[in-house]
Amino acid sequence: MDLSTTYLGLKLPHPIMTGASPLVDDLDMVKRLEDAGAAAITMHSLYEEQITREQLGMVYRMELLDSVSAEALSYFPRADEYRLGPHQYLEQIRLIKQTVKLPVIGSLNGTTAEGWLDYARLIQQAGADALELNVYHVAADPRESGAAVERRLFDIARAVRESVTIPLSVKLSPFYSSVSHVASQLDALGIDGLVVFNRFYQPDIDLQELSIVPSLSLSSSSTLLLRLRWLALLYGRVKASLAVTGGVHTPQDALKAVMAGASAVQTVSAVLQHGPEHIRTLVDGMRAWLDEHEYESLKQAQGSQSLERSPNPAAFERAQYMRLLQSFQMS
Ligand SMILES: Cc1cc2nc3c(=O)[nH]c(=O)nc-3n(C[C@H](O)[C@H](O)[C@H](O)COP(=O)(O)O)c2cc1C
Repeated sequence: MDLSTTYLGLKLPHPIMTGASPLVDDLDMVKRLEDAGAAAITMHSLYEEQITREQLGMVYRMELLDSVSAEALSYFPRADEYRLGPHQYLEQIRLIKQTVKLPVIGSLNGTTAEGWLDYARLIQQAGADALELNVYHVAADPRESGAAVERRLFDIARAVRESVTIPLSVKLSPFYSSVSHVASQLDALGIDGLVVFNRFYQPDIDLQELSIVPSLSLSSSSTLLLRLRWLALLYGRVKASLAVTGGVHTPQDALKAVMAGASAVQTVSAVLQHGPEHIRTLVDGMRAWLDEHEYESLKQAQGSQSLERSPNPAAFERAQYMRLLQSFQMS
């Protein structure tokens, strides 16, 4: 069974890879991921705040925090709380490239198109095969319009696009008012891949302690559904290749993502839960399902459940929604 795929111009034996996560911090783990057959690995993110802190010493750029109080500084981790400092991060990419043959995708995470983006070039020089941009931003400022939030994303994407020659992807948020428009704008900027979707952490409230609890819960397969919809809507409508991230736990999850339009399938929670060998379980399970259902290749399945040919996907979605609500039976 030919499971090969092309993502970000990288020719891969199959679509399963790890998403951005600390799995790459340990070289033994990286080797285990290679042994388990991962098609690629994604570095955890290097953060704008880390780089800026390092560039300017302890004189931290207040305007970065949009003129909020010094209290805001204390929200961010101290330099020694990050897993790898900016130099160590680049060194880790070099070490990984010396140790394994896997394609390595770097990851940059920030919210402004400023000097920290020089690191995009350094990540390329360190040997990364591609770069993923994560603009994790909660639009909490009532003075900033949706268009302004999007403009910032485009400014960052444009600046990075101009500074690197390796393939570049953007990890999208599901919370833009028009994900389709954002995707097409990024496409026009020459972004090679879209990663669907960033998983925003959702803090809880501890009623006992009366405090906000930052909770990082691992995903489940239900996390995938939002991604499936948007992969299906974007497939065939953008030139960029699509990757899924969020909720891939089983071979069936991975197949659904491919059928919706993904060229690459990123997984983190499942590997954290079951270990790197889970990659092999996913690949073998996909192959077995495709064999059993008489597919000749993964490519034959790719995009087969997308809305590529739908002349009016918005009307299709609305009709489905109405039909679903109408059909609900009270028990
Ligand atoms: C412990 C942990 C660390 C993560 N670190 C990053 C990161 O540095 N950068 C990033 O873009 N995403 C990061 N993520 C998000 C993952 O890349 C992924 O998008 C998310 O976990 C959803 O995929 P999953 O359902 O397979 O876990 C992290 C997730 C976890 C669980």
